[in-house]
Amino acid sequence: MFRLKFTHLLKQYTLTHHHSSKCIIYRSLITKSEVKMSSNKDQPLDLSNFVSQRVANLQDDVWSIFSKVSAQFQTINLGQGFMGFPAPDFVKKALVEATMNDINQYAPVRGLPRLCNALSNNYSPLFKRQLDPNTNILITTGANEGIFSVFAAFIKDGDEAIFIEPYFDQYKPNLEMNGGVPIYCPLRKDESISFSSKLSSSVWKLDIAEMESKITSKTKIIVLNTPYNPVGKIFTEEELLSIGKVAEKHNLIILSDEVYDRLYFAPATHTRIAALKNFWRRTITVGSAGKSFGVTGWRVGWLIGPENLIKYVMGAHCRICFCTSSTMQDAVANAFEQSETNGFFETQIQEYDERRKYLMDSFDDIGLSYVIPDGAYFILVNTEKIHPSAESWEDCPDFIKERGFNYQMCYWLAKNIGVTAIPCSEFYSADNSSIADSLIRFAFCKPIEVLKQAVERMQKLKPLIQ
Ligand SMILES: Cc1ncc(COP(=O)(O)O)c(C=O)c1O
Repeated sequence: MFRLKFTHLLKQYTLTHHHSSKCIIYRSLITKSEVKMSSNKDQPLDLSNFVSQRVANLQDDVWSIFSKVSAQFQTINLGQGFMGFPAPDFVKKALVEATMNDINQYAPVRGLPRLCNALSNNYSPLFKRQLDPNTNILITTGANEGIFSVFAAFIKDGDEAIFIEPYFDQYKPNLEMNGGVPIYCPLRKDESISFSSKLSSSVWKLDIAEMESKITSKTKIIVLNTPYNPVGKIFTEEELLSIGKVAEKHNLIILSDEVYDRLYFAPATHTRIAALKNFWRRTITVGSAGKSFGVTGWRVGWLIGPENLIKYVMGAHCRICFCTSSTMQDAVANAFEQSETNGFFETQIQEYDERRKYLMDSFDDIGLSYVIPDGAYFILVNTEKIHPSAESWEDCPDFIKERGFNYQMCYWLAKNIGVTAIPCSEFYSADNSSIADSLIRFAFCKPIEVLKQAVERMQKLKPLIQ
């Protein structure tokens, strides 16, 4: 039991400690003069001798920066990829059911058997093999913790992982916090292909020879993302075969981030590298309930792979968070079970496709060039044609200017047009970020009404487009 000694104690809460002993926390209201006094005493500690190198260099993440900018200018936020619409009713009811059924205690480290079974049933045909729920599946706290745990399991200090650029920004800190070193290899588009109107996402290609040239004796993992955030590209079977062959030749693990596997737009289809050739034995595939069911805040993800890889990742996962929320896991399991017969994933694709088409048509009308996404829910826009007035352009805080042209464009857009997008330079290493100088990302996981409001505001771009 501990006690915070403050004057004017108002309320007393009794909380149950997780070892069942009781602890009492007193909440207090402190007078203004006391706040003043205590703020002098509360000088922040000098932490120069404390902060671990693993977090010392972490910069403010792009999401926090543009959430603040968005709030400041009251923009329509098409930056961050959270869903702007309610979760499906059957998914929400599944959570109510889980709660009422008292699924409230620790889950097994691997995951709730009901969810491991549901994933095995759902994914076995997609992986073209019988997935064993007791060995091939691990439930994680969002895809992100799964990816972190993979690095924790297989990266020793100084080991390298290949990141294909642009890459999801969490990969880098996840790897570096585990002592790893990212080695970057950007997608490239043939110089002869002009980006003056819309472009297929398939024109961005991985130069396999370039990637192979970056592999050293320290390389352990190739990180792949398909369907691809932020490009919307889906790697073709041919591309996956050539990536897999390089992994085989150099004996590397493939970490295939497929959190958008339920979102692809015809005629595109999603191919899993783990289901090709012999690549299963070296591949860990990442999934996310947040993306699959529109519940990013539930923090349920999973890893699928061979037993001897998954068991080490489970070792890391056990020490990082022990297990993932059992209530949420039960609800996700229930949702997966229902999705076998309620056509949810097919309907969801249609709904996203409507949003995608609406935004693409609007960009056509405004005169913006963009990348047509084959999967996921992002559209990359080329800002080269936008010519803001000199005064409106200069009016930008230094912390944004310092991060380059791309950041400045997104700030300008938020302030002057009232719409938030995300600067794509964030998804590149410093050496390659110039590739993204004029690329910004819009997320279309928002209701059509919200997209319409954003498009209305973006009409102001028309006279600035040359
Ligand atoms: C490519 C990619 N991987 C992983 C994640 C993280 O997924 P989760 O929210 O399940 O941790 C995201 C989220 O935006 C993503 O875009």
